[in-house]
Amino acid sequence: DWTPNAFVEETVEDLKVKLGNDKVVLGLSGGVDSSVAAMLLHKAIGKNLYCIFVNNGLLRKNEFTDVLKQYEGMGLNVKGVDASARFLDALAGKSDPEEKRKTIGRVFIEVFDDEANEIKDVKWLAQGTIYPDVIESVSATGGPSATIKSHHNVGGLPDFMKLKVVEPLKALFKDEVRRVGASMDMDAQLLGRHPFPGPGLAIRILGDLTREKVRILQEVDAVFIDNLRSWGLYDKVWQAGAILLPVNSVGVMGDERTYEKCVALRAVESTDGMTADWVNLPYEFLQKTSNEIINKVKGVNRVVYDISSKPPATIEWE
Ligand code: XMP
Repeated sequence: DWTPNAFVEETVEDLKVKLGNDKVVLGLSGGVDSSVAAMLLHKAIGKNLYCIFVNNGLLRKNEFTDVLKQYEGMGLNVKGVDASARFLDALAGKSDPEEKRKTIGRVFIEVFDDEANEIKDVKWLAQGTIYPDVIESVSATGGPSATIKSHHNVGGLPDFMKLKVVEPLKALFKDEVRRVGASMDMDAQLLGRHPFPGPGLAIRILGDLTREKVRILQEVDAVFIDNLRSWGLYDKVWQAGAILLPVNSVGVMGDERTYEKCVALRAVESTDGMTADWVNLPYEFLQKTSNEIINKVKGVNRVVYDISSKPPATIEWE
């Protein structure tokens, strides 16, 4: 007897009563959960919802501008903060996966705290937490909420963590969140987006990061994802992405030997990210995509496809 329409109606009423005329801050990630949470709050309190969307420089190609535009089109009161340089500078020289994650978490908290402090008299922190996040420690949904949670007990609390917390999706599963979004007429492409980790491309560039490596991986990833969409495969895959390997391999271009980067493509089927199978993508798709990557993306001369399942492999390589 649960229906998305009734959920929206009840939740919006509850939020109105609970929040009254208070100001609320929410970190948007571009993902489904934070976007649907924002839309519910927007319906309840309008301009008193202050959304912050941080570019950590590790998003997909054009993602920051595209998604920001989409949020603005939805009527959200959203501020895009381009903190790419701050993140990439902090990551320079770091190659350990956990150190990279911690650095990104720390810088995110600093940036978000600065922005939240600029909103006068803010009383609440809204989060897109869903039921599985409550019971699991690692969020497959990524984004600000996952980052915040894993850094709870580091040093003194940032100011925004002293705010009261409101989590309108806390009792829902992912498919219910999508249905709630659809019942509010949210864009199907936004609701159908693959999960993307909070640390973004940083954990798909094995070893240390440079701006050039981020650029290469963004280009490779864009070819792969665009092709999945144009072949009608995107919605058949639970998560997909490219990994930049820390090795060069020999190739040949014309009469010249090349010595360039190798990338791996990964596409998995899963229900919750806890277990996963690699997807049997058509050979022709892989062939076309590999050719296109090598022809278009300067610095890459080899593409491999990851055929490992979880367990014992993980979805990400770091
Ligand atoms: P693994 O690699 O553990 O990934 O099989 C399972 C799911 O979790 C995502 N993931 C992360 N999400 N912060 C996040 O927000 C992280 O540090 C992180 N590491 C992995 C991964 O993309 C997959 O969906």
